[in-house]
Amino acid sequence: MKSIVVLISGSGSNLQAILDACSAGFIDGKVTAVLSNKANAYGLERAKKAGAAAIVLDHKAYPDRACYDQALIETIDQHQPDLVVLAGFMRILTPEFVQHYQGRLLNIHPSLLPKYQGLNTHQRAIDAGETEHGCSVHFVTAELDGGPVILQAKVPIFPEDDADTVAERVHEQEHRIYPLVVRWFCQNRLQQQSDKALLDGLLLSDHGYA
Ligand code: GAR
Repeated sequence: MKSIVVLISGSGSNLQAILDACSAGFIDGKVTAVLSNKANAYGLERAKKAGAAAIVLDHKAYPDRACYDQALIETIDQHQPDLVVLAGFMRILTPEFVQHYQGRLLNIHPSLLPKYQGLNTHQRAIDAGETEHGCSVHFVTAELDGGPVILQAKVPIFPEDDADTVAERVHEQEHRIYPLVVRWFCQNRLQQQSDKALLDGLLLSDHGYA
């Protein structure tokens, strides 16, 4: 069974989906620790309820990003993770951090990458007149929101939508695809080869598995 460490900054609904999938046996893994850079992140309560270590590492207590990421590495590595999962962890990571976990570092992003990297993705998609939007799970590389995509899910955008209604629709899909990708990883079916992702040894397209 794989050991999984999850990094969060907020509500942790994706963390919850992964915890549920682990306890249901859908994922052959165990979330051993949840780290948050914010002390008030609700996801910490979810972690405690599931019996995982709930750890706060406040970035404001460190002089710079490099020192913080080094402390993160040291804390994460105490749990000897096979996989590190970013689930709404709203921090830019140093290349040193990314390199340390290369091939075992996943992120979920609320857009159909490579579209709408960065923040406020739902509003930007609405403002651009998109009729389709979604979310992507990808391996993390040093390029922000730029690593190889493993799986995407699409949702429609309707004329009456606002950022909240779209976010809700995207969240529902996130809770489907993130546990599935973590399941694949824990089954040893996923690999990263620099800027490419492979499933069962087969190269995935730029949009991931389809
Ligand atoms: C999710 O929608 C995730 O895609 C997004 O934060 C939300 C966290 O929700 N991540 C990013 O924007 C990363 N750039 P959650 O705390 O309920 O899982």
